Amino acid sequence: MTIPKKTINRIHSLRKQLHYHNLRYYTHDDPEITDSEYDRLLRELQELEAAHPQTITADSPTQRVGASPLKAFGEVRHTIPMLSLANAMNAEELIGFDKRIREKLAVEHVTYAAEPKMDGLAVSLLYEKGILVRAATRGDGVTGEDITQNIRTIKTVPLQLAGSKLPDLLEIRGEVFMPKKGFEQLNKRTIKEGGKAFANPRNAAAGSLRQLDSAVTARRPLDMICYGIGETGKLSLPQHYSDIIDWLDSLGLHVSPERAVVEGVQQCLDYYNDLAARRDKLPYEIDGIVFKVNDLEQQQQLGFVSRAPRWAIAHKFPAQEEMTILRDVDFQVGRTGAITPVARLEAVSVGGVMVSNATLHNLDEIRRLDVRPGDTVIVRRAGDVIPQIVSTVFSRRPKGARRVKTPTKCPVCHSELIQAEGQAVIRCTGGLFCSAQRKESLKHYAARKAMDIEGLGDKLIDQLIDKDLVHSPADLYKLTVEQLASLERMGEKSAVNLIDALNKSKQTSLQRFIYALGIREVGEATARALVQSLHTLEAIMGADEEVLISIPDVGPVVAANITGFFRQKHNRDIVKELIKSGLSWKQDDASESQTDALQGQTFVITGTLSTMSRNEAKELLLQQGAKVTSSISSKTNYLIAGENPGSKIDKATDLGVSILDETAFMQLLDKLK
Ligand code: IVH
Repeated sequence: MTIPKKTINRIHSLRKQLHYHNLRYYTHDDPEITDSEYDRLLRELQELEAAHPQTITADSPTQRVGASPLKAFGEVRHTIPMLSLANAMNAEELIGFDKRIREKLAVEHVTYAAEPKMDGLAVSLLYEKGILVRAATRGDGVTGEDITQNIRTIKTVPLQLAGSKLPDLLEIRGEVFMPKKGFEQLNKRTIKEGGKAFANPRNAAAGSLRQLDSAVTARRPLDMICYGIGETGKLSLPQHYSDIIDWLDSLGLHVSPERAVVEGVQQCLDYYNDLAARRDKLPYEIDGIVFKVNDLEQQQQLGFVSRAPRWAIAHKFPAQEEMTILRDVDFQVGRTGAITPVARLEAVSVGGVMVSNATLHNLDEIRRLDVRPGDTVIVRRAGDVIPQIVSTVFSRRPKGARRVKTPTKCPVCHSELIQAEGQAVIRCTGGLFCSAQRKESLKHYAARKAMDIEGLGDKLIDQLIDKDLVHSPADLYKLTVEQLASLERMGEKSAVNLIDALNKSKQTSLQRFIYALGIREVGEATARALVQSLHTLEAIMGADEEVLISIPDVGPVVAANITGFFRQKHNRDIVKELIKSGLSWKQDDASESQTDALQGQTFVITGTLSTMSRNEAKELLLQQGAKVTSSISSKTNYLIAGENPGSKIDKATDLGVSILDETAFMQLLDKLK
């Protein structure tokens, strides 16, 4: 059968593209396209080659796992190749996998070991008599790079294994990754120092591991989770994969705290759904679930297909990054006048959610990305955060693409824009003259954490400002049922309800009120601190910078913002008017039910609590006068540890900090009631 010329050309084009992207991804840690785009290209090539097997060549990207190693590091040959995994892109494909396994093994039910697929890079560790003697990257699966020095800088990788009966030879395999928090901090620091930000934690981990200077690696927040073994010498192995992982755990290696053993495909799907729901809350990125046949004998029976074991599969989550086209960039005005560029995108589904806008943060970010209307961009959406543009695909830039024009006037009120020295933001100088700023400050005032005015949503506020019915928060309380009923999507009944809600909101707390005023950088915590220290509105309004700075959590910038706010006559007038319209709170009432039962006690919360979120737990503690911080020090009194608490437990133990589990924490709260 002859193969159409068009097909041959496509195969060649796909191979060329994949070779290029392999090099960028594996050798330079700087991929240009998303994983999903890469997978699409690879799958297309695989399908074409499967239909026309005579076209397959030994150097086709389908025949290799990755690119060849950089020359700078020594080479390490993996005696047992480091394989990759077959993917299941949806539940049907996973069900198909389970069916094939059951048929091959001629059994009714299969037991699987399940664990997250860590989004990092595969590493092999070689221990001789319990001592770490060599570490290597996967490379192309057969030859990797010697990165022993760099791996030694990772604190969770033991230089010496624990236990007494240590094997002569043990090769461990696992994933090196960068936790989300560390990634964000690293990128912030890199950008500040004028460097190039990493697109995602995986690239950051890869870039960090391939540093020729291990002192640089040592400063990078890397971690490693182990998920398998390679060479074992004469070691006799247990019967189950899960036993091996438990054994690695006992040797002091870090293994997945999420690991589980599940029966049959339904439990696999349940496990997948549970982790998919918790994915954003995990401290590291995962891109799917790996299921492995748990019985090692069965694994052996199943064997391998080309480059992947038949006994394992990666059930992938929907990608968090996709490619799309940037149509245009608009500029939005925030509550404090900050001008934020917003990317208008050709709509694309990212992780199952349609995305057509993404934030570009500020002008520096546009310059950093060198993104232009018409460009193909990579959009990333993780959790509840606003979608972001992570990079520009320059190889797909259309001819004549023009740079984004920097605005010189406020796009809403046409006032001048200013840029404070050393800051990336530009601001509109219009203040409350600018209707965009008025809208945003009203939205802030009405928000749940502020005055909590039920039914006063964004659309309604837009109308109130556009029709000039409300100029400042004080005007809200002068609105009439008739005025409200005349607005779009409002009727008599909803107007009456809103007036009720406005009246109800008048009974508030001083802390909420201070926060609702929208003073720059005065968030809930600062508002609380102000009330705790100064007790009354008069005292807060009258405090000078010296007094303010003496309050915990208030620095010179915030102090200047507060005095600056109350120096403005129109702000003082609005406060006066609000009080006149009947706003009130109990004197000396920092928050609705503030007590001082835990005054002077410092808490840290870690892990997942089953009855509430960490934020809710924090709120409960704050209400009792406690201080809640994010890291453990000798000043910490208690660590509240939920499920999967991570390394904080160790630190707390080292420092002798009392550890409360969830039950003990609930008992403590009960006692205080
Ligand atoms: S098992 C022979 N388990 O995914 C099976 N791999 O796509 C070898 N990965 O190269 C892999 N988490 O870098 C396994 N819990 C996990 C994993 C995992 C992440 C990576 C690993 C591997 C790639 C395969």
